[in-house]
Formats: sequence, structure tokens, C-alpha cells
Amino acid sequence: MMTLIEAENISRHYGLRSIFRKARSFAAVERVTVRIDAGRTLAVVGESGSGKSTLGRLLLGVDQPSHGALRFDGRNMLSLSASQRQAMTRDLQLVFQNALAALDPRQGISQQIGEPLLIHGLSDGKEAARKALEMMRAVGLGAELATRRPSELSGGQRQRAVIARALITKPRFVVFDESVSALDVSVQAQIISLIRSLRQEEGFASLFISHDLRVVRHVADEVAVMYLGRIVEHGPVQDLFAAPAHPYTRALIAAIPGRQQVDGQKVDRLGGDPPDPANKPAGCAFHTRCPIARTICAQLEPPSISIDRDHYAACHFAGAPLSTQSLASL
Ligand SMILES: Nc1ncnc2c1ncn2[C@@H]1O[C@H](COP(=O)(O)OP(=O)(O)O)[C@@H](O)[C@H]1O
Ligand SMILES: [Mg+2]
Repeated sequence: MMTLIEAENISRHYGLRSIFRKARSFAAVERVTVRIDAGRTLAVVGESGSGKSTLGRLLLGVDQPSHGALRFDGRNMLSLSASQRQAMTRDLQLVFQNALAALDPRQGISQQIGEPLLIHGLSDGKEAARKALEMMRAVGLGAELATRRPSELSGGQRQRAVIARALITKPRFVVFDESVSALDVSVQAQIISLIRSLRQEEGFASLFISHDLRVVRHVADEVAVMYLGRIVEHGPVQDLFAAPAHPYTRALIAAIPGRQQVDGQKVDRLGGDPPDPANKPAGCAFHTRCPIARTICAQLEPPSISIDRDHYAACHFAGAPLSTQSLASL
């Protein structure tokens, strides 16, 4: 399959201001390597602050990595001229959580859906209007809604409108950043099935970001789990749900209602919040919350190891039973 997005060891540092100290920086995304093939969906999950949105912005080229290499369709994204970058924007689209903020409150939605065609000089006004109606039909919005303003639509309808606007230029890569998180569960399921069918028809690749592991199950081909800026586990969606190897992934799966057990074992829910990304714990950054952490975990950052085909986890005890008893001999 053709690789569309290739990020190799990308990091993004942000500055911290402090009146007490010299300016410091921390890595919101740290040495992340991902590859997305044409037409495929990679889900990125993790708690708030783990770097998911930053990774999405890096892959879209709207933010620049501090280190690392990034290619889109074989081209180096980090050495593009302003005009080359501009020409690429129609291929790269973002759909985020807050559809209301993404839309102009004063304009009818079909006009807003067609607008990117005008911005990119791809259609004249008449064709843009026709294509906007076509796109509305494709996302399940009736033509009678064309002149409605965003406030006159339901949350689900607004999210459909935002998706239509993102897809009208036929992008090759779309980042869905918490795109269904604000919706009711039943509407979430409708939007996810819409995204799946559109992906099949239009063939775009996507990064599907969610803090909720549940919602990625039916949309992702692969899943990357992030913790404090790093990918701690990465694998095909079935493997990740059937045999999660990292204790963090196991805890996220155990937190899904009705799924208290992983591999037939009871898993405790995660306690507390993630540490401050600007003060990451030494060794494995997860060790302060990990139910199976040992001395080595506070000392040495675990490398990513192969669990199975295309399935990796960064844990010294990846896949080990979760009871501390059985680890006592280690
Ligand atoms: N523009 C920015 N400037 C400084 N810090 C930022 C910026 N964007 C994000 N961060 C910080 O980077 C970390 C990761 O943020 P983000 O990528 O938004 O995480 P997520 O989407 O997983 O919640 C957070 O600690 C956040 O405060
Ligand atoms: Mg985010």
C-alpha cells in the first residue's frame, strides 16, 4: 500500500515562561514515529495533555516539529516554500470538536460548505453551490437545510456540515480531532459510520484523535496510545483491544464500561491525573501510576519492543500479568 504520511522521530517543544528560572522548554510530542498509508485510519488515544492535538497539527503541517522528519506523499514537508505549502492545504484538512466555532454564525451552511472551493480557486460560484448540495447529500443533510444558519441545526447536523466542508476539496488526509467527543453516544455512532462510509468512497487517509478509546474501535485500522508526548503502544485495532500489552492501554480498556477485565484479569482503574508534561517522571514516564512498576521503571526509559506483527509497546514488562505477585520474581 502507498504510504501517504511518514513522520520519523518527530518532537515538538514548547517554551515555558518562568520568572524564577531561565526559559525552559518541554516536549509536547517526543520522538514519535508514525506512518499512515493512503486510505487508512490511525487512531490516537490518550488522556488530555498527552500531545494528540499537537501531533495532529504537526502531521497537517500547520505546526512545525522541533526535530525529526516529515513526509507527505514522499515530499519533505519541512522544506516547502510558502506557495508549495499553500498549494498543499487543499489536501490536508482538520475537523475538530467544536463545530459551532468552526462555522460562521451569520451564513447559511451550504454557502460555507462550498466556500473552500472558491478559496482554493477550484470552482466558480455556480459550481461551488452545486457541489455543496452534492456534498450535503453525501453527509446526510437534506437540501432543505441549505440556507439554515449553524444555530438552527442540531449538534450532529453541524458536525456533518463541518465534515462536508472539510471534504469538499477532496483532501487526501483528514485529521479528526475529538470530532465526535461533544456528541451524544447515539449521534457519535452515526457520525462514525458516516466517516467510515465517506472514507470508503473518497479514499482519504485519516488521523482520528480521541481521549475515549471506545469510539476508535469502529473507525480505526491501527491505534497509537499516547502518554505524556510519547507513543507507548501501537498496533492493529483488533490486537490492541484483544491483547493490550502496555499497562496504560490495559487501564484505558478496563475503564470502558462493561470491560473491567483484560485477558481474563481484573484491572484496576487508573488513579489520579497524568503528571505535568513539563516535569515528566524519569525512566518510564508512566511508572508513577503503573500497577506493575518495578525499580528499573523509575530508572530506565523502556524501548519500544515488538509484541506481535505490527504491534509494539514501550514497557519493560509489556504483556506481563498484571498482578504484582507474579512479578515478584523479576
Ligand atoms: N501552543 C502551545 N504552547 C505551549 N504549550 C502547548 C501548546 N499547545 C499545546 N501545549 C501543551 O502541550 C501539551 C500537549 O497538548 P495537546 O497536544 O493539546 O494535548 P491533547 O490534545 O492530547 O490534550 C499540553 O501540556 C499543552 O498544555
Ligand atoms: Mg486535544
